[in-house]
Amino acid sequence: MGDPVWYITTPIYYPSEDLHIGHAYTTVAADALARYHRLQGQPVLFVTGTDEHGQKIAKSAEKAGIAPRALVDKIVSRIQDPLWARLGISYDDFIRTTEPRHHKVVQSIFRQLREKGDVYKGVYEGWYCLPDESFWTESKLIDGNCPDCGRPVEKVQQESYFFRMSRYQSQMIDYIESHPDFIQPTSRRNEMLAFLRAGLEDLSISRTGLTWGIPVPDDPEHVIYVWFDALSNYLTAAGYLSDPVKFQRTWPADVHLVGKEIVRFHSIIWPIMLMALELPLPRQVFGHGWVLLGDKKMSKSRGNVVDPLVLIDRYGVDAVRYYLLKEVPFGSDGSYTEDALVLRINVDLANDLGNLLSRTTAMVERFNDGWVPALHSEWDTGIIAGEVARVYREVEKSMDRLQISDALAAIADLIRTANKYIEDQQPWALARSPERRPQLEAVLYNLAEVCRVLSVLLSPFLIDTPTNIRRQLGIDDPVREYKEAVFGGFPEGIRVRRGESLFPRIENKIEEDQWVTLEDFQKIDFRVGTVRHAEIVSGADRLLKLTVFDGERERTIVSGIRQHYQPTDLVGQQVVLVANLKPVKLRGIRSEGMLLAGSVGETLSIVAPVQPLPAGAKVK
Ligand code: ME8
Repeated sequence: MGDPVWYITTPIYYPSEDLHIGHAYTTVAADALARYHRLQGQPVLFVTGTDEHGQKIAKSAEKAGIAPRALVDKIVSRIQDPLWARLGISYDDFIRTTEPRHHKVVQSIFRQLREKGDVYKGVYEGWYCLPDESFWTESKLIDGNCPDCGRPVEKVQQESYFFRMSRYQSQMIDYIESHPDFIQPTSRRNEMLAFLRAGLEDLSISRTGLTWGIPVPDDPEHVIYVWFDALSNYLTAAGYLSDPVKFQRTWPADVHLVGKEIVRFHSIIWPIMLMALELPLPRQVFGHGWVLLGDKKMSKSRGNVVDPLVLIDRYGVDAVRYYLLKEVPFGSDGSYTEDALVLRINVDLANDLGNLLSRTTAMVERFNDGWVPALHSEWDTGIIAGEVARVYREVEKSMDRLQISDALAAIADLIRTANKYIEDQQPWALARSPERRPQLEAVLYNLAEVCRVLSVLLSPFLIDTPTNIRRQLGIDDPVREYKEAVFGGFPEGIRVRRGESLFPRIENKIEEDQWVTLEDFQKIDFRVGTVRHAEIVSGADRLLKLTVFDGERERTIVSGIRQHYQPTDLVGQQVVLVANLKPVKLRGIRSEGMLLAGSVGETLSIVAPVQPLPAGAKVK
């Protein structure tokens, strides 16, 4: 039969308009997971695709004045190429719900469930949210709007087929309770349990008056509800009813990766469809958070979208992938800003990774004629070998838990350790004394080796960079297995080939009128202070009231750092304050100054001197 296939899916996207970086986010994450599992030697099926039926597409086509088929053909072809092609998405199958293979599966599922009595005909009366393609009963609406997205709903009343979901309510609750990993992260699992316990109604799964969809078998006045059609794609792509051998190896899916707004469809409706079909349930539905623009979800229907192709043109595919995967902790929401993207490129990729490689190859050239020394058993591989082994396991552990951003954070740690190793070892100093030659060679080996290991560790996440690293190291073979990231495998007799820097720094253009002069800067009285007392400001969940000694006197400063620091963390802590800021009243408290703090995304850190300084010391 062959080994079981590791099967991962993304949602199939609506091709009503071009996709944006929210869709790219899910798809790049699934791609990284698929590439990782392939490197681990598993057969993988990675499926993405498009959800082409339904009212939403029909309306978009009408607006564009073309037939739905023409609209979807045009958009789907752009999704496949250039979008997924340029983002390096290594899907094994791209499924379109308008394909005959899918049509056949959906109709068969419908028939099977109708024969079983799980699908019956009745009258639907309720509310429909068009942008979400979801039905709601009156009682579920919030302020008369869609409870998921808050947008207006339209009233519908018509003859409809229903899926007898209610029959499976307790079976579904039992399943979720006895399979703690089925819905991840846990917060979504709790939401779904609460939703189920509130009671499950039968689901309307057909519509009349719409022709753009798969007809109900033997009752072509009705077309099948788009979600019923869409969810079934996961079976079609696994070979259900068409390729029994493939299906046997592939089903159930290992991960359905989806955005959090559609977890409900995937972890209630979909598994109940499978229960009714007496098929095994997917092992996991992972609902990741949203890419936000400001504090709003980026979405086609809101029109606040960023085009991934524009970013790829500007910064390259690997910078975009790295940013998406590293910046948004997998499972939580994260705001997109171009500044944060540039920061990640400059700090992680140009400064840390790029410099490591260019310093390494430059030193191998300068101190060893370009030849990477061979590994000697008596050498001290010390900290680097230990850190490689730790990160190797850490990446495995994180990827198994779908914590992609943690895996990249561990890799970033390794890069920082290697750069620090250069500072600590000072190869240029070793090169000055001939008797320290063996130590110099060991250091050069360790550095070339860590760069090689990084080319392996990074290869699920980045497309061109692993090959670029290897080319500069003088290694022509591509990465084949994750196991190659074990320390000590640098091939012998290799000469480095220095090349262009991996990631040139992006210079931020500052407009003339944004410059500040030295005089402007000197007007600000920055001083070191010591926190003597800190307390919570009642009724303000972001504020702390601090008493800070500035070298002359104690002053009160109200600071918006409560989400990041406990009052007890701060007492005794040195800070940098702006001492001549005009006092303001915050929550009735007079605040006499401001603390400096840096932040990126959700992370915030107050700024303090590296060595303790007396309170009152000037900062300039
Ligand atoms: O829902 N942040 O299609 P869709 C993160 N056809 N992810 C985002 C995002 C954002 N701002 N915006 C979109 C559908 N996504 C259905 C799915 S599946 C059987 C049918 C991603 O085009 C995320 O994965 O509206 C989300 O779930 C999906 O795109 C929604 O895509």
